[in-house]
Amino acid sequence: MKRLPMGALRRTPDIVLDGTWEFRLLPYEQEWKSVEVPELWTMREKADPPHYLNVAMPFDEVPPAVPEHNPTGVYRRTVELTPQPGRRTILHVGAAEGHLSVTVNGHPVGTSTDSHLAAEFDITDAVIAGSNTIELQIAKWSAVTYLEDQDHWWQAGLSRSVFLYTVPEVHLRDVAVVADYEAGRGSLKVTVATAGLDHLHEVAWSARIEVLGRTETRGISPRVVEPAFAPPLTDRSKRPKPLGLPDGLMDLLSLRAAGAPIAEELRPAADGMMPPREKAGTAVLTLDALEVAPWTAETPHLEELLVELVSPAGETVDTARLRIGFRRVRIEGRDLLVNGERVLIQGVNRHDVDPRTGRVISRELMLAELSLLKRFNVNAIRTSHYPNDPVFLDLCDEIGFYVVDEADIEGHAFTTTLAHDPRYLPEFVERVSRMVLRDRNHPSLIIWSLGNETGYGPSHDTAAAWVRAVDPTRPLHYEGAIARDWHAGHAASDLVCPMYPSFEALTAFSADPRADRPVILCEYAYSQGNSTGGLAEYWRLFENLPGLQGGFIWEFKDHALDPDGDGRYRYGGDFGDEPNDGVTLLNGVVFPDLTPKPALYEARGLFSPIRITSGAEEAQAGTLRLRNRQTFADLGAYDLRLQVETEDGPVGAVTLPAPPAAPGAEAIIDVPDSIRALLGTALALTVSVRTRRDAVWAPAGTEVSAHQVTFPRRLPRLPRDTGTAHAEVRHPLLRRGPQLCLWRALTDNDQSFALDNRFVRSGFFQLTPIDVRADAGTATIRYRAAFGDEVVHTRTVTVLDQGDYLLAEHVTLPDAVGDGLRVGMEFELVDGFEQARWVGLGPWENYPDRRASALLGAWESPIGDLAVPYLKPQENGGRGEVTELRLSGPAGTVRTVHATPLHMTVSRYAISELEAAAHWWELRPSRKTVVHLDIAHRGVGTGLLGPDTLPAYRLPRREYAWQWRLTLSEED
Ligand code: GAL
Repeated sequence: MKRLPMGALRRTPDIVLDGTWEFRLLPYEQEWKSVEVPELWTMREKADPPHYLNVAMPFDEVPPAVPEHNPTGVYRRTVELTPQPGRRTILHVGAAEGHLSVTVNGHPVGTSTDSHLAAEFDITDAVIAGSNTIELQIAKWSAVTYLEDQDHWWQAGLSRSVFLYTVPEVHLRDVAVVADYEAGRGSLKVTVATAGLDHLHEVAWSARIEVLGRTETRGISPRVVEPAFAPPLTDRSKRPKPLGLPDGLMDLLSLRAAGAPIAEELRPAADGMMPPREKAGTAVLTLDALEVAPWTAETPHLEELLVELVSPAGETVDTARLRIGFRRVRIEGRDLLVNGERVLIQGVNRHDVDPRTGRVISRELMLAELSLLKRFNVNAIRTSHYPNDPVFLDLCDEIGFYVVDEADIEGHAFTTTLAHDPRYLPEFVERVSRMVLRDRNHPSLIIWSLGNETGYGPSHDTAAAWVRAVDPTRPLHYEGAIARDWHAGHAASDLVCPMYPSFEALTAFSADPRADRPVILCEYAYSQGNSTGGLAEYWRLFENLPGLQGGFIWEFKDHALDPDGDGRYRYGGDFGDEPNDGVTLLNGVVFPDLTPKPALYEARGLFSPIRITSGAEEAQAGTLRLRNRQTFADLGAYDLRLQVETEDGPVGAVTLPAPPAAPGAEAIIDVPDSIRALLGTALALTVSVRTRRDAVWAPAGTEVSAHQVTFPRRLPRLPRDTGTAHAEVRHPLLRRGPQLCLWRALTDNDQSFALDNRFVRSGFFQLTPIDVRADAGTATIRYRAAFGDEVVHTRTVTVLDQGDYLLAEHVTLPDAVGDGLRVGMEFELVDGFEQARWVGLGPWENYPDRRASALLGAWESPIGDLAVPYLKPQENGGRGEVTELRLSGPAGTVRTVHATPLHMTVSRYAISELEAAAHWWELRPSRKTVVHLDIAHRGVGTGLLGPDTLPAYRLPRREYAWQWRLTLSEED
């Protein structure tokens, strides 16, 4: 017995086998113990913990060798069964990570090796009435493990549900639906495949199909035996009757196939020689010109489809229910079209990951994840890098996402060999074809992916050919096919789907006359740590250059694990897993607990259904112009809340329904008089876009983005330096007075290989004063950086009043430094400051190259909440364009005012503490307040994997000069 073929039908369990099983992990233990299924034993067993590796395999063998040390989990349980005559019993194993072998009552039943698709076995012949023992043995490593080398934790066990169901001997085997949509009409093709009938020459069974309020019945096709040639006549005793065959009968076949001329009178004979035939045991329904609402990710309209298998006696013996959506996906030239329209892919890559369970994902978690993504205007998901639980696709159909469904193939450690190795060819085809057969009815699924990072070889082309033949309705995606040449790889990829391309490469390719396919980045905007700089630049290109259509951010969620739920998130190496790739899996735009990182807010604004296209003057004159960025929906789902930002906070909020605007069109709204009257001294007019109705993914009133029209900034004027000159800044509230700082706790990107240690090489992490000269109010400090370069800081201090200083700073950096991290002042306050209030960009963390969605206003936050707790501590919590900062608490009040907007960081931790900690949770609770006010702060970029921050956000200058005012008061 073997694993059953894959189909799209989803059976309801008769007996759910989730729950308590006996378990033992070989070779470590012989005794049985109880565990709860589904589970990954690696998340529980100290002897075989999760192991994080990106590219390398966790052992030294080469394909197809299997390591000798092969942890093997054996799951065993008994189940009482009463087999019913005429019904077959099927065991469904939702997902087994590793090489699964199944035995029932000691009989081997079958094996399976792909970790993210269900394996089903017909166990009818192995079960008995009464108590049955089911044993699922999972060996962690097999020859196929080399194809599951995704950048993720190596885990093992049962990650999805296990259950039993029964079907009648004659039953529905599969239902394949093509629900097409064109020119305002739907068409439908439903192919019903049965089991138990395909051997019959005459079939009186039928399929009854209910859809769109109609019921149609189609007979199941019989098996047709091709006629044999009549034997030569041997009886010459009487004159044979003529058969009436036309002359040249045998030529008709090839003439017809060749499209050669055939005499009119011979046409019927030619047509009769090769009639189109349906497969035995199937029924096909086709319907055209259907009046039906189309499915899109913006308007996810679904219809019910019911299929019944009806016996000759008229009895319904089996049923299948599906939800379908009518839509057409097509590539025309360099555009990917959904229902004839070019859609922009605002996607993320999503792995199955749950910090507590590893990869055992509940429906609730999937719904929570998709709801979050929808609220942040993400419209597409690549199931990197394997098929997800089918429930995930159900939710995508329902909530509305475009999905790239990816086959479970990544041979990253052996990219030059696996796709060329004929021993692995069947596995490529098997994995791709099973995914297609399982998922093809989902309207959300618009693109098939042949896997990830397995080089490129004939096995890809073979799998691609299979998909093209079986499902010609969807384009194919495979990055490996275009990785070396964006003009190549057509056999396996209908898209140019590169990873982490530079802006220049995209710009050049868009203008290249040879470019012939849509460009959709399979991975970009690498978000490890404090990152995702340049997202707005990518979107400027996607929205303006031909052939570029968006992409999938790498990635949705950090993969840190927390098996015991103590909040101490672990990454590579934290389980004693050696060798490992450390923090390379902390690259989500959300934390493991789904808290969005600031990068996701940046994406939210760029992906918004609305963009404001008018400026300050129009707003002051009373109008606001906006564009509906959607492709299919009008703006009827949204309200707009207008509010005016002033230095004293927001005022004058008014909520209006969004104006009618067709997809892609602009609309103008009149700014209400009450708002207009407030614009005179305003910083900005904010437009918050909110949902008008309740949806599964958000209650009515949820903000999905906020945009601004900003007004010319009235910068604070600092008094002339007419006070007392004073070279030092000392005050009881200052634990450390303001000092030059050129360093930040390096981000992962700052440490990028490609940046060639340029920041460490500057030596700016350590500035040692070597000479201080004070002259009246001016002090000049010469510093030596760690490797000997000299930095000069000149400051003129004027004491304006008690505790009120005016500081004029001048900094000269050494010639050798072509690029820096920050130039600014750092000071530390005594304990007892709790609250921050600033006028500048906020409310969330922003950096010069990641602030297209940040909002200008007066913001407040507890000081501790300004931090972004990147799991590996690094520079965080910055806010740009700050003209005024006020810190207060029982200790007193500190205020700074800046004539030039500064980039601020207010933190509970010193740079050295952030750099020393390997995990955020190692940082001790702190009440100190460390303030940075920078005249220049480098963008964050994505340099670890992708473009560095653009030159405009780097720090090449040698000289900086600015002024600021510092007020310290011990009164709260
Ligand atoms: C890509 C790969 C991803 C991930 C990423 C680095 O090359 O496709 O799976 O490894 O790099 O985090």
